[in-house]
Amino acid sequence: MFTRRDFLKTGTAATGALVVGSRAVLAESTGQPRPAPMRVLVLGGTGFIGPHIVNQLVARGHSVSIFTRGRRDASLPAGIERLVGDRMINDTIPQGNLRALEGRKWDAVFDDSATDPRWVRQSATLLKDSGTYLFVSSTGVFLPYLTPQNDETAPVITEPANSPDYGVRKAQSEQVVRQVFGDRGIVVRPGYIVGPGDNTDRFSYWPQRFARGGEILVPGLPEHPSQFVDVRDLVAFMIKIVEEKRGGTFNVTGPAQRLSWGDFIREARATLKPDSTPVWVTDLAFLREQKMTYAIPWMIPEGENMHHLQINNRKAIAAGLTFRPMAETLRDTLADWPKRLAMLPAGQQPNFRWITPEREREVLALWKARR
Ligand SMILES: NC(=O)c1ccc[n+]([C@@H]2O[C@H](COP(=O)([O-])OP(=O)(O)OC[C@H]3O[C@@H](n4cnc5c(N)ncnc54)[C@H](OP(=O)(O)O)[C@@H]3O)[C@@H](O)[C@H]2O)c1
Repeated sequence: MFTRRDFLKTGTAATGALVVGSRAVLAESTGQPRPAPMRVLVLGGTGFIGPHIVNQLVARGHSVSIFTRGRRDASLPAGIERLVGDRMINDTIPQGNLRALEGRKWDAVFDDSATDPRWVRQSATLLKDSGTYLFVSSTGVFLPYLTPQNDETAPVITEPANSPDYGVRKAQSEQVVRQVFGDRGIVVRPGYIVGPGDNTDRFSYWPQRFARGGEILVPGLPEHPSQFVDVRDLVAFMIKIVEEKRGGTFNVTGPAQRLSWGDFIREARATLKPDSTPVWVTDLAFLREQKMTYAIPWMIPEGENMHHLQINNRKAIAAGLTFRPMAETLRDTLADWPKRLAMLPAGQQPNFRWITPEREREVLALWKARR
């Protein structure tokens, strides 16, 4: 079975660039009063989330440096300082290569590229005289999701020290940020992040599939839970709490109220193709046989994923997290889809992981033959 753990690993391994135009930048201003300009370092800054952080920071009047290996192209606003190095630590490079950051400090650091607590130890220690350090963690810290409504006080697993598990490494990284930065440290735990620039092809399956119309295989039960956050809402929240200098830990997923999988499918159909026909495949045993146990933002709620899409986000909402209408996320993700396709190497198809057009036809035929 493809698990949440697999998603988390593959999701961040995807590569690609995002082009965000200047009008989009202005539209993404957080709507908050203009703050005092800050000098901000983004560890990351390209890939999926990075350009959204950079563009919204610039739109808020902040000056931005990014630090990456320089492997991906990204159209970022003029005036961005691009620092190049490598956070990777191994036997031959035990310290990574952070030389470009040495002797410098920033008003705020957004750590968007770490999946290893040793990377965070190195950068947080080197940058400890900076003002605020925000670490992009993940709701993956709660895996296995055995209790409903995990909030920020719920226990997370931080052992063994050399665990290969994404969630454990994120939880250990969080600990480092709290140790080094104390109440100047911020930990943000997003659930599935979706929207323009998404290079994982997970959520994006649904807008492009509804746009094609016809009979659409939908696995699961309409009452199953669903959760995700639009990257632009996540980033607006991160910038807001950094500007307000709020320390602490925040689960950041959406929407505000419980979302059912049925509600999501209804909204996608109404927004993108009202004359399409969702065909609900509701027999979970049949879905397991067909290896269709997930279709983000849905997953069979069972075993270690039982309460996976029911994370408690009340604290972040109280601190100012807001959500744009789901229809906007669906439409904008669809509008961005040609850019995503253009980024794929020649001949390569998007990787939806759980389905192809052929599999959809085949499984729909099997399902109809059973009834
Ligand atoms: N996508 C989701 O649904 C999701 C959910 C929860 C949490 N998150 C977290 O969100 C963060 C960002 O995710 P993303 O999807 O935007 O990732 P991404 O598209 O893979 O981008 C990663 C960024 O980090 C840089 N980077 C990677 N390895 C590096 C290294 N060794 N040294 C220096 N820079 C490096 C990349 O640039 P170069 O390649 O040029 O170095 C790029 O700017 C990650 O921490 C991820 O765990 C993602």
